[in-house]
Amino acid sequence: MSIPEAVIGNDEVLVLDFGAQYAQLIARRVRETRVYSEIVAHDISAAELAERAPAAIILSGGPKSVHVDGAPGVDPGIFDLGIPMLGICYGAQLMARDLGGEVNSSGRSEYGRTELTVHDPGDEGGAASELFADLPATQTVWMSHFDAIVSPPEGFVATASSPGAPVAAMENAARSMWAVQYHPEVAHTPHGQRIIERFVHSLAGCGHRWTMANFIDEAAAAVTAQVGDGRAICGLSGGVDSAVAAALVHRAIGDQLTCVFVDNGLMREGEGEQVVETFRRHQGMELIHAKAGERFLERLAGVIDPEAKRKAIGELFIRVFEEARGGVVDARFLVQGTLYPDVIESGSATAATIKSHHNVGGLPDDLDFDLVEPLRSLFKDEVRELGRELGLPDEIVWRQPFPGPGLGVRIVGEVTPERVSLVRAADAIVREELRIAGLEREIWQAFAVLLGDVNSVGVMGDERTYGSPIIVRAVTSEDAMTADWARIPAEVLDRISGRIIAEVPGINRVAYDITSKPPATIEWE
Ligand code: XMP
Repeated sequence: MSIPEAVIGNDEVLVLDFGAQYAQLIARRVRETRVYSEIVAHDISAAELAERAPAAIILSGGPKSVHVDGAPGVDPGIFDLGIPMLGICYGAQLMARDLGGEVNSSGRSEYGRTELTVHDPGDEGGAASELFADLPATQTVWMSHFDAIVSPPEGFVATASSPGAPVAAMENAARSMWAVQYHPEVAHTPHGQRIIERFVHSLAGCGHRWTMANFIDEAAAAVTAQVGDGRAICGLSGGVDSAVAAALVHRAIGDQLTCVFVDNGLMREGEGEQVVETFRRHQGMELIHAKAGERFLERLAGVIDPEAKRKAIGELFIRVFEEARGGVVDARFLVQGTLYPDVIESGSATAATIKSHHNVGGLPDDLDFDLVEPLRSLFKDEVRELGRELGLPDEIVWRQPFPGPGLGVRIVGEVTPERVSLVRAADAIVREELRIAGLEREIWQAFAVLLGDVNSVGVMGDERTYGSPIIVRAVTSEDAMTADWARIPAEVLDRISGRIIAEVPGINRVAYDITSKPPATIEWE
C-alpha cells in the first residue's frame, strides 16, 4: 500500500541515499516539519525523478570520498530538473564536484562540534543567504568530513566557513541549490532543524500537509479500497505496531477485521488483560483471545538453550495462530504492523544471525494471505502519534519494545511457571519504579532477568539464604541496533533492589547490567 496522493500532494521531499548513517534521520526531520519525506536510492534516474516531481530533493551524506573509485554518484541530469536541492556533507561535495567546483582533501578533517561562521553578505556583495536567515552569524554545527569543498562551482557563492572547511556552505539560489558541509539533521547541530525547515518551507515552498489526522483519513480510505468487502485478520502481540495497525484498519473496515491475540503466558504483568480490555471493550473489535499459556509452558519444559527456546516458542505461536484463524471464515487479508525502517532495511544485506527473532511479522510465507500494511511509510514515533490520535491508551502507545518470545528469553535456564512468576513480579517493580521516577520515556527498555540456575548465599534476618539473582537491565537506544546502559540514579536503583528483595520470594541478590550493545545484546538470550 503506498501513501495516498492526497496526503502528500506534491509536497514530497526525496532523500537520495549515499549510504549515510543519517539518511533515515533526514527523512524524519523533514517529516517533523509536516512534509512527507522518503528515502530513494542515489542512482534514481533524472527521468524517474522528473516523473515523481517531488517538491525538493536532499542529497544525503555518505561514508565514501567523492574521489575514490566506486563512490556513489548521481544521474547528472538531476541538476537540470529545476527541483530545489539541498546537499548535505557528501551530498554537498558531490554537488560541488559534479557542477565544476573543486573538492580536496583539506588536510583538516573535522569530526564533532565545530564553529561555523556565516558570511556577511557584504563580503561577497550579494544578498544574505536565505538558508541562514535569522540565525546567528557564528553557530555550533556537527561535522564529519575528511574532504572539503575548496572552491564552489561557477554561479555558486560560499555562504559559510569553518576552521577545516573554507566552503562549509554554498548556494546558487537562482538554480535553487543549497549545500552544507555539516549535518543539520543531528541533535548536536542546535540550529539544524531550522535549516531543514527553511529549506523545505521557505525555499522549496512546501506546505504543512503531513499531519496524522490527514494520514488517518487517507490511509483508512486506502485500506477500504484494498480490502473491499473481504475479511482481514490481525495478530496482536501487545506491542505498539500491531496495536496501531489494527486500530487503523478497524477504523476503515470495522467488523470485517478480526484480531487474534495469542496469549503465550510469557507476557508482562497485566499485559494480556490489557490487550483484551483495550481492543474488545474500548475499541469494540472482534478479538479472539487464544489462551495458550499452559501449552507454551509444557512445550518449554526441559528446554535450556536460548535458540531452542526461541524456536519452540515461534513454532507453537504459529500453530496456535493457525488454529485460532480457523475460526475466521475466509480471511484473505493479513494486517501487519510493518514500519518504514523495516521496509528500507529489508533491501540491505543481512548480517549474521545473532538471535532468531520472532514476532507476528515472522509468520511463514506459505500462509496464503494478501498483506495489509498501513504503517509501511511511518517511523516509530509517528506510529505512536497515530496511536494517540486513534484513541489508544498511553500504556499501549508508549509500551516499550518487548521480544516475541517474551519472558521466556528473560529466564536464563529452564522456563518454569514459578520462574515466570518471579521474573514477572521483579519486572513489574523495575518498570513501576522507573515510571515513578519519571524516567520511563527516556529509557528504551528496562526489565528484569532471572538467572534461574544460579544461586548465591545471602543473609536475611540472621538466617542464611541461598537464592537466585535478578539482573536489572535498562538501556537507552535510538533503534535497538546499538544501546547503552542507562545511567539510572543510584537512589532509584536502590529502591528497585530493596523492593525486589522484599517482595519477590526466593530472590536474595540484585545486580545491574552495565554492558552496552555491542558487545552485549539488549536481551540476555
Ligand atoms: P537484542 O537482544 O538482539 O534485541 O539486542 C534487540 C531488540 O529486539 C527485541 N527482540 C525481539 N523482538 N521478537 C521481537 O519482536 C524477538 O524475538 C525479539 N528478540 C529481541 C529486543 O527486546 C530489543 O528491543
